[in-house]
Amino acid sequence: MTRDQFDNAFSFFPLSEIIQTRSSKTKVKKLLETFICSKNSDLQDFLHDQAMTFESHLRSRTYVYLDNATREVAAYFTIAVNTLHTDGISSEVILLLDGYKDDTQTIPCFLIGQVGKSDRYEEFKIGEHILADTVEIINSAQHALGGRFILLDAINQPKVIAFYQHNAFFPIEEDEGQESIKMIKPYFEVME
Ligand SMILES: CC(C)(COP(=O)(O)OP(=O)(O)OC[C@H]1O[C@@H](n2cnc3c(N)ncnc32)[C@H](O)[C@@H]1OP(=O)(O)O)[C@@H](O)C(=O)NCCC(=O)NCCS
Repeated sequence: MTRDQFDNAFSFFPLSEIIQTRSSKTKVKKLLETFICSKNSDLQDFLHDQAMTFESHLRSRTYVYLDNATREVAAYFTIAVNTLHTDGISSEVILLLDGYKDDTQTIPCFLIGQVGKSDRYEEFKIGEHILADTVEIINSAQHALGGRFILLDAINQPKVIAFYQHNAFFPIEEDEGQESIKMIKPYFEVME
C-alpha cells in the first residue's frame, strides 16, 4: 500500500484524544477491542487491557489508526521515554550507545513499546508507514531533548528482525534463541 493509499484509508489519533472525546471508558475499551493480533497476543492484550491505564498514568503514549471504512482499530503504536540497562552488553557496545563511557549501567533512550497492525490487514504492507510515523514523533522529541537512540524489543522471528533492519534498526545483542532481541535506531553515526 502506498503512503497516499495508507493516508486515505486510515485516520490517526492519539489515544489521549480518543479518551477525551468518547463519552465513557467502556466505549473506548470497546473500540480498542476491535484490534485483533493473533501473531502477537502481547500486542493485542496491551491495547485491550493496559494502554488506557498507561496513558492516564503518563507511562507512555499510544497512537491509534482507525479504518475510515469500518471505524475499527487497524494498527497502533506505543512509545515512551526509557532506560536501557546495560547488563550483558559488551563495553564496546556500551561505549557506542552511551557515546562517552564504556561502563555505564543505564542509558536514557526512547522506547517503542508496541507496534503492529490488526489481523484484518495481514495482506496490506503497511508496517513501514506505521513505523515511519512512530519514528517521526520520537524524532520531534529527540530534536528538542537530545537522546542517542530509539530502543525496541523485537520478537525473535527472522521476518520481524528483517522488517526492523529494513527500517534502519539494528540488533545490539546476539541471537541466543531468546524470545526477543533488543534493537536500536541510532541518532549517532555508526561506523561500518
Ligand atoms: C511487524 C509488522 C508491523 C510488519 O508489517 P508489514 O510491513 O505490513 O509486513 P507483514 O505483515 O507482511 O510482515 C512481514 C512478514 O513478517 C511476518 N511476521 C510479522 N509479524 C510476525 C510475528 N509476530 N511472528 C512471526 N512472523 C511475523 C509476516 O507473517 C510476514 O511474513 P510473509 O512475508 O511470509 O507473509 C506486522 O507484521 C505486524 O503487525 N505483526 C504483528 C505484530 C508484531 O509482531 N509486531 C512486532 C512486535 S516486535
